[in-house]
Amino acid sequence: MDYNITCIPGDGIGPEIVNEAKKVLTIVAYEFGHKFLFKDILMGGASIDVHGIPLTDEAIADAKAADAVLMGSIGGDTNTSPWYKLEPSKRPEAGLLKIRKELGLFANLRPALLYKDLSDACVLKTETSKDGFDMIIVRELTGGLYFGKRETVVKDGVRVATDTLTYSETEIRRIAIKAFEIARKRRCKVTSVDKANVLDSSRLWRAVVNEVAKDYPDVTLEHMLVDNCAMQLVKDPKQFDVILTENMFGDILSDEASMITGSIGMLASASLNETKFGLYEPSHGSAPDIAGKNIANPIATILSAAMMLRFSLDLTEEADAIEESVKKVLSYGYRTGDLYTGRDNEIKVSCSEMGDLIADNI
Ligand code: IPM
Ligand code: MG
Repeated sequence: MDYNITCIPGDGIGPEIVNEAKKVLTIVAYEFGHKFLFKDILMGGASIDVHGIPLTDEAIADAKAADAVLMGSIGGDTNTSPWYKLEPSKRPEAGLLKIRKELGLFANLRPALLYKDLSDACVLKTETSKDGFDMIIVRELTGGLYFGKRETVVKDGVRVATDTLTYSETEIRRIAIKAFEIARKRRCKVTSVDKANVLDSSRLWRAVVNEVAKDYPDVTLEHMLVDNCAMQLVKDPKQFDVILTENMFGDILSDEASMITGSIGMLASASLNETKFGLYEPSHGSAPDIAGKNIANPIATILSAAMMLRFSLDLTEEADAIEESVKKVLSYGYRTGDLYTGRDNEIKVSCSEMGDLIADNI
């Protein structure tokens, strides 16, 4: 079958890692008799440089017209890049927030698991990581602080900045349902993370999650405060199955979760709307410091492509083939720089070599 995939190479290491994902998808198409038709669009800094804005209406239309969207990363060095001299609504990140909102991508799924072969790269003590862990963070993506009213004003000669954190019960309910549905296909446990000891939005969050839980008596629900969760992730990560949380907490906790898997270069993500449609991107950023050097780790993007096949295109066997190939290549000892610990069995490879290896092992 033919599938239309809109790609957003983006900024920094984005174009390099998306290239490797396309390479792997092209082999999958060949092996399984499909055709993936790729169309690139600009977003973030790359779009600012050409159009003066981080996302055009034409680019949004191209994304909407596709079967799924595959993205690299956007943004630059916030201290030095001229993009950050622009007003906030014209900066690279505004493009990403806009596409999430325009496409209704409210559910962000970020799986974090420790591959057996990467336990040496895990920053945790062996006694903590030896049993491995396998969790998925379900992050609300189109509400909360990211989309609330914000302003910076001068009051009585003093600059005052305000961001607002708003959640409706509808927004909470639909993401909670997603988390419980996912838990049912895993180990049937949801940890809902909030700051209900301080925030009203978190108290509503907890109440609505409790209501949703009544429809899932087979799933165990626990509530955890976000500061405690940050600690538990490094203390005992194997306790988690599905972590359900709001936008900002999910942003922070997913970076932490990715780091304990060995490298932030390993964490894939899917952002889904009410239908099967989704945008797939690595959880990490554009790493401008290593861009263009062919040393970035393309695995998070390649695993995001696998999630795309699984969730949006219903190509389960094909998705399995990519994930198996990643495992195989890691078991042979191949490592990009971020994963390399210098052990005897490890072979350091570049971004494009890692892409070749994963493609060749499909
Ligand atoms: C992420 C990123 C984005 C976010 C940035 C680039 C706006 O950190 O996808 O986690 O905060 O959501
Ligand atoms: Mg983030």
